[in-house]
Amino acid sequence: MHLQDKVIIVTGGAHGIGRALCRRFANEQPRGLIVADIDFESAHAVANESHGVAVKCDVSLEQDVKNLIEQAQSTFGSVDLFCANAGIAMSGGAELTNDEWQQALQVNFLSHLYAVRALIPSMLERGSGYFLHTASAAGLLTELSSAPYSVTKHAVIALAEWVAITYGKQGIGVSCLCPQGVKTRMLQGDHPVVDMLHETALEPQQVADCVVEGLASEHFLILPHPEVAEYFQRKAGDYDRWLGGMRKLRTRLKLDSTTAD
Ligand SMILES: NC(=O)c1ccc[n+]([C@@H]2O[C@H](COP(=O)([O-])OP(=O)(O)OC[C@H]3O[C@@H](n4cnc5c(N)ncnc54)[C@H](O)[C@@H]3O)[C@@H](O)[C@H]2O)c1
Repeated sequence: MHLQDKVIIVTGGAHGIGRALCRRFANEQPRGLIVADIDFESAHAVANESHGVAVKCDVSLEQDVKNLIEQAQSTFGSVDLFCANAGIAMSGGAELTNDEWQQALQVNFLSHLYAVRALIPSMLERGSGYFLHTASAAGLLTELSSAPYSVTKHAVIALAEWVAITYGKQGIGVSCLCPQGVKTRMLQGDHPVVDMLHETALEPQQVADCVVEGLASEHFLILPHPEVAEYFQRKAGDYDRWLGGMRKLRTRLKLDSTTAD
């Protein structure tokens, strides 16, 4: 998918990777760019610099996602590319409360489902449309410090796979963005996993460049850290060995006393 003259929505567009996507997409001269975020003021600033329109949207609410899409359609016409990018991180495992798990599910996963559900019928009618799902390397591998993050990112990839298989022949394209560390607010804080991810962390602009390339070639996986493909192959090649390696890494990072041990 090339972005010139396209109508694009980016959720979580106010900061980090989403902001970099908006800035980068603006260079491709889209017909319309919607910067959607729960943080309207910052979304507005990003929209101003990327010739876009800011919309306040809490992606965890289905009605907000529907309203966002309706607003994009009435302002610019049919949505060509929906970038489900908003996300949250939280540390912890099974012991987190149901409310915390629910929040992770809603923001990191159900928001993607809401967009797919709202857009698939009109995309099928037109025979075209594209979803970019920001998942994470944690969706292919795991995130040692967070069960909800790992689970919800796996769920995103599962949904994206399903959509790609089910509707791929009817003109609907899907890509999953699966970076490791990216230097955004999400990668802040004092934690051994954060320190480890910082060693290979990319700037958000580098990720955005990769996305534009990945969309142009319409690859399902967009991997700004190419080594993730190798880790994923190792996991598939010998799951037990991979689990053993991850346990060792957990010990090396001194996480053994942190969660459900
Ligand atoms: N930073 C990393 O290391 C990294 C790595 C892999 C994947 N990701 C994924 O990239 C995506 C973007 O994260 P980021 O690193 O740019 O973090 P970030 O915190 O800088 O940006 C997240 C954006 O999402 C918005 N947001 C949060 N909850 C929302 C909601 N309910 N409704 C609408 N907007 C909401 C925030 O306001 C913010 O603008 C996330 O899905 C994240 O899981 C990040």
